[in-house]
Amino acid sequence: MISYQDGTFRLDTDHTSYIFRVTKFGHLESIHYGERLQEQSYEALILKQSAEIGSTVKYDASDPLYSLDTMSLEWSGIGKGDYRHSPAEIRMPNGSFVTDFVYSGSQITDGCIPMDTLPSSYSEADDCRTLKITMIDQPSGVLLHLFYTVFAGMDVITRRVVLENGNENPLEIRKLMSMMIDLPSRNFSMVTFKGGWIKEAHRDDCRLHPGLFVNESTTGASSNRSNPGFLLAEQGASESSGRVYGFNLVYSGNHYEGVELSNMGLVRVMSGINPHCFSWTLHKGERFETPETIMTFSSSGFNGMSQNFHDFINGHIVRGIWKGKERPVLLNNWEAHFFSFTQGKLLRLARQAKKLGVELFVLDDGWFGKRNSDTAGLGDYTVNRRKIRCGMPKFAEKINRIGLKFGLWFEPEMVNPDSDLFRAHPEYAVRLPDRDPSLGRNQLVLDLCNPEVRDYIVTSVRGILTEADISYVKWDMNRHMSDMYSPCISDQGEFYHRYIIGLYDILGRIFGDRPQILLETCSSGGNRFDLGMLCYSPQIWASDDTDPIERLAIQRGLSYLYPLSTIGAHVSSAPHQQTLRSTPLSSRFNAASFGCLGYELDLKFVPRLEKREIREQIAFYKEHRNTMQYGKFYRFDALKGNKVHWESVGRDKEEAVAGFYQTQSSASEGFDFLPLAGLDPEKKYTLRTMPRPLYIKRFGALINFILPFHIDPEWFPARMINKLVCLTDCVEEYQGYGRLLEAGVKLNNQFEGSNFNSRTRMLGDFGSNLYIIRHVS
Ligand code: GLA
Repeated sequence: MISYQDGTFRLDTDHTSYIFRVTKFGHLESIHYGERLQEQSYEALILKQSAEIGSTVKYDASDPLYSLDTMSLEWSGIGKGDYRHSPAEIRMPNGSFVTDFVYSGSQITDGCIPMDTLPSSYSEADDCRTLKITMIDQPSGVLLHLFYTVFAGMDVITRRVVLENGNENPLEIRKLMSMMIDLPSRNFSMVTFKGGWIKEAHRDDCRLHPGLFVNESTTGASSNRSNPGFLLAEQGASESSGRVYGFNLVYSGNHYEGVELSNMGLVRVMSGINPHCFSWTLHKGERFETPETIMTFSSSGFNGMSQNFHDFINGHIVRGIWKGKERPVLLNNWEAHFFSFTQGKLLRLARQAKKLGVELFVLDDGWFGKRNSDTAGLGDYTVNRRKIRCGMPKFAEKINRIGLKFGLWFEPEMVNPDSDLFRAHPEYAVRLPDRDPSLGRNQLVLDLCNPEVRDYIVTSVRGILTEADISYVKWDMNRHMSDMYSPCISDQGEFYHRYIIGLYDILGRIFGDRPQILLETCSSGGNRFDLGMLCYSPQIWASDDTDPIERLAIQRGLSYLYPLSTIGAHVSSAPHQQTLRSTPLSSRFNAASFGCLGYELDLKFVPRLEKREIREQIAFYKEHRNTMQYGKFYRFDALKGNKVHWESVGRDKEEAVAGFYQTQSSASEGFDFLPLAGLDPEKKYTLRTMPRPLYIKRFGALINFILPFHIDPEWFPARMINKLVCLTDCVEEYQGYGRLLEAGVKLNNQFEGSNFNSRTRMLGDFGSNLYIIRHVS
């Protein structure tokens, strides 16, 4: 996995190699990261320095060809001739910013080396090794430790650094990235996942040209604006082919990813804590550790890269008893009630949910303090007896008696000015001594740098978890930071990072000894969807947007970086609260089922036939849940602009589920193919459409074309008929060996303005189908 020979380090995974060497002056020079290579001389791959390049500064008078600016490096400092962006900006003990770390030694150990302050990947078996390289800045005695952990079977290498002050005088870190690597340019695009509230994780491709490209957040969290995960894809890479590098950071705060194409055609990649408003003082003997960056490479396109990430996250990030465990189908009452509910309403909803097959009932915001709107009550986690008359322990019992597990919402990092907590402890809120704080969603952020605040949160949340039988917690966080200041720290440059360390401390203390609780974190939807949170919460609420057409973009974006077992996805009512779009119930399910399925609507207003459909959906999901949450997931390059194709293949290739989605229909759609991948070429399968109801009302007056007589669709009996009967959309069934099906199944025609019959697919705008592919012996 890791070897060291003649000054060259070689890190191998099953399909990748990562090679670098120590130069004669002690710098680390990158040689290769990409496809796995045979052991041999790497001379051919080493960047050549045979001519003196103009406008460069020579590192040492003894070698006029040695210029750091034109080298491919694993780490670079400031002030010794490399003018690209450095991964470190440190005011050194002598007051200057010049650093020059050179190799001093290395150590290889089995397993991962856990961190003191931050969560990181882990291993339970003997399946990874760690290389620690120590570099020294000679005149100052400051040490830099580079950690490389190799997960061979996952094609993942992780990197992080620790800075250690070996000098008598303090130093000040202004920027310290977790990793840096220089790669040769391959006309890369930097692929990032951008957005905002209700439009998270939209894929954005940006072709590199000379200069620096930055993906970052400054909101205090990993943010809905720019996910910390990003990719570098060579020109022409597709979902199934081409070289793609993936990078992601195990961190939930402000992050920074810089990709710089130099004038010499080298691409410098860095990821780590955002230097924005960051500073950290290290006194003699003190250490600072950066979060861990996860790196992967695949020459099988975006899908290959994503599948590496998925396996790695399921195996080495998500932990505890929910690792690899199927997630329950839940019903969340938020979009059903918002703040307006009573115990009776909740119990009625829970009873109906149970009848449809739901397994977990989640009571969202509004159950505590004076929380009747988002203007009051945050911070006061005492149950509101006007709403929950019997108190939380009894209420949980009632839900359990219905046959459902019980889950509860909290937003522990926040406080409303109109709350008992704020009245008693205004100093708990993040604010400056000499300014009025700015509100976001009528609330302030609690100061997690303050140990007393952390104790308050731990005690109040643990109190409720102890007294009531709670199987699931939704941990929300609904605003960006402002007025960053804590009286508990002397250097306010530490604020953002100390907040995140405080958050991890709280999560560990509350949930560490409650592994049975399924924690789903949330932040106004997907404002904190990152690997740091996944170390505590096995699933994360992806977005407050439950419109399936929007979800196709959001869940697609997240799927590049995160496995489906981590993505919370709900079916809600239509027209959608976020977009006013009306979509078929089947499409809402077909999108949400590629994730951790939940429902979030008032079942009281769901017509009988739709309830039957929901019951069938849940039964289908339970039958195929393992494939949907843990299968090998494939995205397909769009065959047409208005189509989306997904597939999840069971690990044993005994079954697969494929999704075919049409965003907007066009006239005379032409032929549709169903792309498939990942099947066993030696196995014979049947492929069958999941039956889907067609509600008569969707066709309006068109219904008259198939009835022997004409009716007014708004006529009362017509509406009654619509409530009692519905049609089934065309069901197709084919058989074939894996390879035949992967050649592209040709589907029946869509409705083309005429010829409605049982063999015509009635999709229309926002229509979709699921196909189940099963091995037959
Ligand atoms: C946030 C969450 C929602 C819901 C509300 C409750 O917006 O993302 O799912 O929990 O808060 O206030």
